[in-house]
Parts: sequence; C-alpha cells; structure tokens
Amino acid sequence: MTQGPTTDILIRQARLYGEGDPVDVRVADGVIAEIGTLTPGSGTEVLEAAGQVLLPGFVDLHTHLREPGREDAETVETGSAAAALGGYTAVFAMANTDPVADNAVVAEHVWRRGRETGLVDVHPVGAVTVGLAGERLAEMGTMARSAAGVRMFSDDGRCVADPLLMRRALEYSTALGVVVAQHAEDSRLTVGAQAHEGERAARLGYTGWPPSAEESVVARDCVLARHAGARLHVCHVSATGTVDVLDWAKGLGTAVSAEVTPHHLLLTDERLNTHDPVNKVNPPLRTDADTTRLRQALADGVLDCVATDHAPHAVQDKDREWAAAPPGMLGLQTALSVVTHTMVRTGLLDWRGVARVLSERPAEIAGLPDQGRPLSVGEPANLALVDSEAEWTVHGAELASVAANTPYEGMRLPGVVRATLLRGRLTSCEGKTV
Ligand code: DOR
Ligand code: ZN
Repeated sequence: MTQGPTTDILIRQARLYGEGDPVDVRVADGVIAEIGTLTPGSGTEVLEAAGQVLLPGFVDLHTHLREPGREDAETVETGSAAAALGGYTAVFAMANTDPVADNAVVAEHVWRRGRETGLVDVHPVGAVTVGLAGERLAEMGTMARSAAGVRMFSDDGRCVADPLLMRRALEYSTALGVVVAQHAEDSRLTVGAQAHEGERAARLGYTGWPPSAEESVVARDCVLARHAGARLHVCHVSATGTVDVLDWAKGLGTAVSAEVTPHHLLLTDERLNTHDPVNKVNPPLRTDADTTRLRQALADGVLDCVATDHAPHAVQDKDREWAAAPPGMLGLQTALSVVTHTMVRTGLLDWRGVARVLSERPAEIAGLPDQGRPLSVGEPANLALVDSEAEWTVHGAELASVAANTPYEGMRLPGVVRATLLRGRLTSCEGKTV
C-alpha cells in the first residue's frame, strides 16, 4: 500500500451533515478523535472548511473500472482517483471485465490493485454466472471466501435471465451472507432497442426500449427473493413502473433494495436529438415524468441509494454512430454535484438525506462495517468535505478517468468536493489526489 504515516488533521469550522453550528473535527489514527472547538497542535495539517458540509465518505455500489482488459478506458488506479475526487471512500467494481471476475483469481487481482493504489477501498463484484453467459453459476462461495472477500455478485451489463439460476444465486447468497445485484432487463423485450420507447425514439427511428423490460424482471426477482428468504439489490432503476413494483414488494416485506443513477435523476431522452452517443446508456434515459418520480422515490426511501454506474468507454469505441456505440457514461466525479442539483437544490433531500443515499444505505446494503458510519468520536474517519455553495464546470478532458465520456460536458453544476479522507488519510484535496 502507498499509504504513508498518518498525521493529525484538523478540519476547521465544518458543519456536520450541513446542520447546526460549525465545529472543528480532529482526525488522528484513522478515526474521528475529537469534535468541538479545537486548537491545532504542532505538525497538525489544517483544512479550513468554513461553511462547508462534512459527510461520511460516499460508497458506490456500481462502478466499472475496466481492469483487467480495457485499460484504454479505465484502470483501477485512474478509477480510484476519480472516486477519491468525487468524495468516495469505497467502490464496488463490476465483474464485466476481460477476463470476467467470475473467479477468485480475477477478483483478488482487482482487490489487490485497489489496495496498492490506496485511494479508495475497491471491492470487486463477483459474476453470478460463468463468463456472464447466464448458463452456469460462478463459484460464488470461493470468491466470497477469497482474500477479496467478495460481498456482492452481479452479471451487470447483462441480466440473469434464467429464473432457476437466479433462484439458486439468491439461495446461495443468503447462505454466504452476500447480496445479488440484478441488471434487470428482459432481453427478449429489448432486441435491437436503442432508446426509451416513446415519441422521441419513434421520431429518431430508434427501436424502442420499453420500461416493461425492467419492471417485469424486478417483479419476478422480488417474488424469487421473497420465497428464497433472500436479499435482492436492483441496479440502476430507470422507470416509474419499477418504482411501483418496488413499492409493492417492500410493502409485502420483501428484502429488496434499489439504486438510481445520477444520470437517471437528471437527464431525459430529450437529449437524443443530437444523436450524440454520449447519451446512450443502459437502461436508457427516459422521460421527465420518470426523473420526477425517481427523485421522489429516492427522497421517500422506495429507492435506497444513488449508485453511479460509472461506465468509461474509450473514445474509439464510444465515438461511433449511435447504434454501434456501447452504452455507458462517466459518473464518479459528478455524482455529488448531480445529487446536489436534483435533490438538494429542489428541497427533496437535506444533507443528512444525502449522507443516507450516498453513504449509509449503500454501506448497509453491501455490509461494509466501517463505511457510512456516523460522524462521531471514535468512528473511522472516512469522510467527504463538500462546498455546497460552490459551482464548477464539467470538462471530460479534465476528469481523472482515462475515458472522457461525460454527458455533463460544459454544464455548470453545484456542489464541489473539497477533500476526501480514507481512514484518516487525505486521498483528495482541492481537486487533486493526494
Ligand atoms: O450503460 C451501461 N454500461 N449499462 C450497463 O449495464 C453496463 C455498462 C458498461 O459496462 O458499460
Ligand atoms: Zn447495468
């Protein structure tokens, strides 16, 4: 690990969860050591944080780091830098790499690269099925018991379509104490689909992607999870109807959690007029009515958390005609700002609510004991310091990722991450990794 010796850090005059009077926070030996009116000792590093909001470090349940195999799009190192700059202290790296993380060797490799980089805790996600082929279950137990301690399994990018395999995966997940995260897409309903099924897709000549492709799989999986007595996590909810399904399933007591991406909170298929594949994503951008409902559901808790689905793509892949371009957009460095814009500035969430959806709930869902912890003395110092009033302009070329496929190019967004601390050590400060 590249982590150096820990020094004392004094965060001066920050507002915890954006609430109450500003206080000083002393961080030492990896934990929050003191909160109050404090004076820095000699050798203490001081972070002037007047007016800034201190939050628990963010946890991303859905990141594509592309290593191994597509280091021309992202690496564990560059993705970790993007995460640290975005306020994250833990990320879950999806299994759709090349080779696929369907075994302990690949999972341990990703985990080790994360440790070596040392900017964020990188938790590899294990594939549910061998090669993401949807035919045979991967060695979930071996991955769970490996040094990487895999605690989340997903074929993300693809749906586990076979109900029997999904049922077995859910049953094993209970026995192993892990969680299965489903990319809900009935691929029979999305053959050739290019954009949300609606007026715009019709006008542009794209085959429509119906919300029912998502809703139907989520409904089925909730039923399977309930019968298996298992916990299910639903990736990137995009549609109003899926919120209804989740509301119904939760009402029955199903142990289901769900994430929404920043882009599905903000962007709609109105952007498709330009045919710019930067807006192509799976599931697709939908309508104003959907973004409104997703925001409300996130505020209400029907949707549990925000996950980025950070999906870097090399320029030679992404910059093609719409139909040939791969789906996906960058997300780690812009998530806090998009959440500030869509949820905080609209009055739907206060900063305590932001801590819940970006940190506490994802940590609970994945079972991370040392993340998403309260901001109190003795707790691990995994922290994000946010200037809630500042704004910045997004430029893909300036982001830390290898790829630059941000849909927010040139947009001015509120909320700037000033610093991130991982176990008491600064990992990013003023837009630079440390
Ligand atoms: O847009 C997406 N990109 N959705 C996925 O499910 C996969 C991801 C990727 O790997 O690029
Ligand atoms: Zn997905």
